[in-house]
Order: sequence, then structure tokens, then C-alpha cells
Amino acid sequence: MPTDAELLDAAAAAAENAYAPYSRFRVGAVVVTDGGTFPGANVENAVYGSTLCAEAVAIGHAVASGVRSIDTVAVACLDAGRVCHPCGNCRQLMREFGVRRILVRDEHGRPQALTLEELLPRSFGPEDLAAQ
Ligand code: THU
Repeated sequence: MPTDAELLDAAAAAAENAYAPYSRFRVGAVVVTDGGTFPGANVENAVYGSTLCAEAVAIGHAVASGVRSIDTVAVACLDAGRVCHPCGNCRQLMREFGVRRILVRDEHGRPQALTLEELLPRSFGPEDLAAQ
């Protein structure tokens, strides 16, 4: 099982494949599941709003491979001069698959584990539709 630091290094390696010609802000993510790990990087588009975040790509990669439950998502931003956290939309994507831990590097470069409850409190999820 990879360490948190190794997962963050893998996310940084994934960010090397980012397609970010517009923002020049490269992000990588690694999704960790029982069935293995799945990398992703941000994929921008000339229609800016069509851009895919690294976390969305990694989650899509995992789900399209059959995953339905995600333990951890590690996120690395290569070009951020400060700590970088997942955007709101990616937090919601994580919510769907029960992500237990989100790994980022803190201001000292140390791995930091956050919960979805911290990042997305009082959220809407699959169980809210269960009564339908
Ligand atoms: N980005 C991500 O990949 N993940 C996030 O959580 C925040 C932002 C990307 C999208 C865009 O390509 C660039 O970073 C600047 O917003």
C-alpha cells in the first residue's frame, strides 16, 4: 500500500501530463480504491468552460473501470505558490463515491489528510434521492 507521500508524488507525476495551455496551472490527482489506483490530470479546452479538472478525470477513470467506492483522492498542483484544494464541483464528485480522505500538501510540503465532511459539510448525496 503506498504511503500518503507516495500518493501525492504520484499525483504530481500525473500533473506532468496536464493539458493546461490556457491557465498553465497543472493539476494531478490519484484515486485510491480496493481495485487499485487511477491517475488523472486537468484537461483544458478552447471553450474554457469545457475544461475537466484533474480530480474529475481521475474519478471518471476509476468509475469507467468499474469502481463504485473510493477511499482516497490525492491532489497535487504543480504551479501553485500555495496550498491547493479541490474545487467545489470536484468535492461534489467525490461525495458520490464516499471518498474517505483527501490528501494535499500543507504549506510546509507535508502530507495532510482532510475529510469530505470538512471540505463539503451538509452536502447533498445519493441517499437524498433514495426516497424517490
Ligand atoms: N483545476 C483542477 O484540475 N482541479 C481543481 O480542483 C481546481 C482547478 C484546474 C482546472 C483548470 O485547468 C486549472 O486548474 C485552473 O483553474
